[in-house]
Amino acid sequence: MSDEAVSLQTGGLLQSLPPLLRNDTIIIPIIRFIEKGVSKKMDLTTTYLGLKLKNPLVASASPLSEKVETVKKLESAGIAAIVMYSLFEEQIIHESMELDHFLDYGTDSYAEALTYLPNIGRYSIGPEKYVDHLKQVKKSVDIPVIGSLNGVSAGTWVEYARKIEAAGADALELNIYYLPFETDLTSEDLENSYVNFVSKVRSKITIPLAVKIGPYFTGMGNMCTRLVDAGADGLVLFNRFYQPDFDLEELEVCPNLVLSTSQELRMPLRWIALLYSRVKTDFALTTGIHTAEDVLKAMMAGARVAMLASELLQNGTGRVSEILVDLEKWMKSHDYISIQQMQGSMSEQATHNPHALRRSNYIKVLNSYTSLP
Ligand SMILES: Cc1cc2nc3c(=O)[nH]c(=O)nc-3n(C[C@H](O)[C@H](O)[C@H](O)COP(=O)(O)O)c2cc1C
Repeated sequence: MSDEAVSLQTGGLLQSLPPLLRNDTIIIPIIRFIEKGVSKKMDLTTTYLGLKLKNPLVASASPLSEKVETVKKLESAGIAAIVMYSLFEEQIIHESMELDHFLDYGTDSYAEALTYLPNIGRYSIGPEKYVDHLKQVKKSVDIPVIGSLNGVSAGTWVEYARKIEAAGADALELNIYYLPFETDLTSEDLENSYVNFVSKVRSKITIPLAVKIGPYFTGMGNMCTRLVDAGADGLVLFNRFYQPDFDLEELEVCPNLVLSTSQELRMPLRWIALLYSRVKTDFALTTGIHTAEDVLKAMMAGARVAMLASELLQNGTGRVSEILVDLEKWMKSHDYISIQQMQGSMSEQATHNPHALRRSNYIKVLNSYTSLP
């Protein structure tokens, strides 16, 4: 029998056996014996947005893509794909406003808007420079490069989706972040604007489109379905919101970016596990991926890829190879042979206790706190 045939026969068999047989003292040693005889290579591959990836680790939109050198280091460390930091709607509009301002000198209608984007590093480079940088990144590495647009409204600026495609991006991630503070804005209006926005961007490009959203929707399941119906090939859950702080001495509202911890993984994990069988799309998990265990959880919830920003910004690009080693080690010791085999295995549909993902878990969690003063 060929290696491939043996691998096919034993691949995932142990995991897919009914619990009763998993305890079988005859069957298990036979399977282990067969498996030992075959030098199997762990299959870490996954697919995301139609892209075949060598493993599920993707560098999330962040300064990690600011320098071509860093992207190359990430590739050498084994990252499977990279999402570029975003080109913001404000950047594009700002540039066209500046142009209008110079053409129509004397009007001050945009005066405030012109000071809206002070010199804020990578986010104040012109949109054309962003597109050039994307081209450079794409030329320098073999891994897929995903462009990123970040905005709130479907204005003419979405032409940049086309420019990102023309620059060679393998896919586009659209990050929609709107803070709905207006008291007359209904959830329905807000959701409709997200859906229209996605349809508009979809109509501009032929490359795959992922939509990155936050967790604050009243009807999360319905919202995700509508985004997919509007043309999203994948959903990136969840955008992490950075809350501003107050400086008590200066009496200023100040930006304050705190990197994530693994604790924050739980929200996207739960939602992907709940939506995996309900919304037919490619889920990417972002927020809180720091270790191989976090990646494994993301896969079992049903994500196609696990995205990392904080971990790599804090501890360096070398973490990618360490996480990959730990991933393989864990898989070997738990008799897994492929990532695909575990994807969705802890989703609501597959887990033996789906209620643990729903409301009934709430009382249990509260009750599990025992250390009283
Ligand atoms: C410094 C920094 C810059 C970021 N820039 C972007 C960005 O340009 N576009 C975007 O969609 N997300 C951006 N993010 C969010 C990350 O892509 C990611 O979704 C978030 O940090 C959660 O993942 P993590 O827990 O791995 O950090 C940024 C995050 C950080 C820390």
